[in-house]
Amino acid sequence: YLIGLDIGTSGVKGILVSVTGDIVASRTEGYPLATPNPGWAEQDPEDWWQATKKVINGLLTDSQIDPGTVRGISLSGQMHSSVFLNDKMEVIRPAILWSDTRTTRQCQEIYNRVDGLESLIDLVSNPALEGFTAPKILWLRDNEPENFEEVKLVLLPKDYIRYKLTGEINTEVSDAAGTLLLDVVEKDWSKEILDRLNLDREMLPPVLDSTEIAGKVLPGVAVETGLKPGTPVVAGGADNACGAVGSGIVSEGRVMVSVGSSGVVLAQANNPRADKQGRIHLFNHAAPDKWYMMGVMLSAGMSFKWMKEKMFNDRLDYDKLNELADSVDPGCEGLLFLPYLYGERTPHADANARGVYFGISGKHHQGHFIRAVMEGVTFGLKDSLELIKEKGVTIKEIRAIGGGAKSRIWQQIMADIFGQEINLLNIEEGPAFGAALIAGVGVGEYANFKEAEDKIIKVRKTIEPDSNNVQHYNDLYQLYRKLYTSLKDDFK
Ligand code: XUL
Repeated sequence: YLIGLDIGTSGVKGILVSVTGDIVASRTEGYPLATPNPGWAEQDPEDWWQATKKVINGLLTDSQIDPGTVRGISLSGQMHSSVFLNDKMEVIRPAILWSDTRTTRQCQEIYNRVDGLESLIDLVSNPALEGFTAPKILWLRDNEPENFEEVKLVLLPKDYIRYKLTGEINTEVSDAAGTLLLDVVEKDWSKEILDRLNLDREMLPPVLDSTEIAGKVLPGVAVETGLKPGTPVVAGGADNACGAVGSGIVSEGRVMVSVGSSGVVLAQANNPRADKQGRIHLFNHAAPDKWYMMGVMLSAGMSFKWMKEKMFNDRLDYDKLNELADSVDPGCEGLLFLPYLYGERTPHADANARGVYFGISGKHHQGHFIRAVMEGVTFGLKDSLELIKEKGVTIKEIRAIGGGAKSRIWQQIMADIFGQEINLLNIEEGPAFGAALIAGVGVGEYANFKEAEDKIIKVRKTIEPDSNNVQHYNDLYQLYRKLYTSLKDDFK
């Protein structure tokens, strides 16, 4: 058996799988998120650790397996969030999370210190975004100097939990890539950026490959969790990298499109190709010596939820919403939706952008407003697909996962707007499942990700694009692009 743990934003999810990919047990344990000021998002790392122990206990109790048969454990986690530790490895203050936007000033400072966007991208392959780790460290230095003085080490969430499990201090490439301090091409901390930001390399842990064994379960932890002492713990990966592994995105040409609260479009790249304008992220993959490009939409499923709850007061359930959307022609007779409710990351990196319904006429009714959200979000995903193509990736296969991909009509909208087949998978367990596969590769249960994938991940259904709609949507996509350009100066 293998165990995958995902240290997420709303809770820890753990799964226990057989090496043939059967899910034997699955548990989640939630924790709160604090917002001490508007735009802030913090969590107590101790909550993650307590939840992790409960989840592991639960997996072993539910499955009734002999803990000695767990071949390996690995971890996935929310990216970018910073855990500040002192010289006794105690947490100094709550972790500042990836979704926290307090660091706009520090992002500007980073650009100033490195002489602009292009040189930053030359160093770390990515732009300075509020969510990333480096600006959080600078924020601490600027605003809580007494805490900053005490910092001996900065860890990412799953690396902190791995430390609690094993006593070993490490990170691995896929998560380190999201700190803005890693030379993503060379797979090591960038001396140049650390110098420019006047940060000490000693503050950062050694960088492993995702599939390396990072340590073994400590005897005390074994007592608390029910695990066997000495069980190998494999480094693991960032949640997006693990999500990709769990969906078989382990060869170039395969793309994952995920509609959760946020939207993610992720493509493996066999060599690093950063976008000079920083419109799309470039991070290290969990598959050794591979990279991935990723576009992130802030409000994908979130736009749909907003429409369901705020526009329709939660009076319509998902079946009814789908039925109404289905009653309307593709293109919504000219009604278009821009899904920028909370600003947008890819491709605009514009925190001021806002949602828009455009082209409302007297003939439009509920169904149009619902379908327009599905279409608008899908146009936003297409923006990322276009960037991935622009970077030289030939998209051979698109795999759709997440809540949005459960709707038959949204599946068809995706195929028609992308103008390409959409594949749905047999397994949709997300990052925790990817972490379990990483554990399997790490302990040698699978020779590599390709072998794990061939054994376990299957295409369950293919949705063909309807050629009648593809051209129509292409025309609308041009208008969708133009609308943001026309409005962007007024989003203030
Ligand atoms: C990726 C990002 C989020 C977090 C969520 O850049 O910020 O997807 O990884 O956990």
